[in-house]
Amino acid sequence: MEAILIGFMGSGKTTVGRLLADQLTTQHADLDDMIVERAGQAITAIFEQHGEGYFRQLEQQTLRGALAQPGVLSTGGGTPTIPANAAILTASPVPVICLAADDTTILDRVAHDTSRPLVNDLDTAALLALKHQRAPLYEAAADLVIQTDQLAPTEIVATIQDWLSQPARRSAQA
Ligand code: S3P
Repeated sequence: MEAILIGFMGSGKTTVGRLLADQLTTQHADLDDMIVERAGQAITAIFEQHGEGYFRQLEQQTLRGALAQPGVLSTGGGTPTIPANAAILTASPVPVICLAADDTTILDRVAHDTSRPLVNDLDTAALLALKHQRAPLYEAAADLVIQTDQLAPTEIVATIQDWLSQPARRSAQA
């Protein structure tokens, strides 16, 4: 694995991950897609039928497997907020990049999306409270945090590539 993207729902992890993988001429893996494949069910169905705890178990098992593969990994918004997953990410030598975005940017992107169970279940205030509660956990897990609101996906990818090419790159801010 060459890079791992973390961040809240709607922060652009999948879009940026695909583009970054293209630029690095490697493969892209999306942890949610891998979980869906493994479970044979959509994320909403997993949450509805088995509950979030079961989803988190699958997520952790899938994360361990994903780290052994080459390429760029886009995680789910909750992945690094689970202590066991945070420990897996911290123990891995793969750079972890957090895509940060303002509340309004996130709400614009996810508010009308019905494929995310937490968005379906939480009202706007609760969703933003979750975002704020998770922010320090993303920062703790990340080697690089990029504030993405004013950047196009190609610019975010260029920022990441630039940072990846620097020899000393831990706990940086871009
Ligand atoms: C979740 C985010 C989702 C998905 C699941 C739980 C979360 O991924 O893993 O619905 O806890 O924030 P995205 O960030 O790709 O939407």
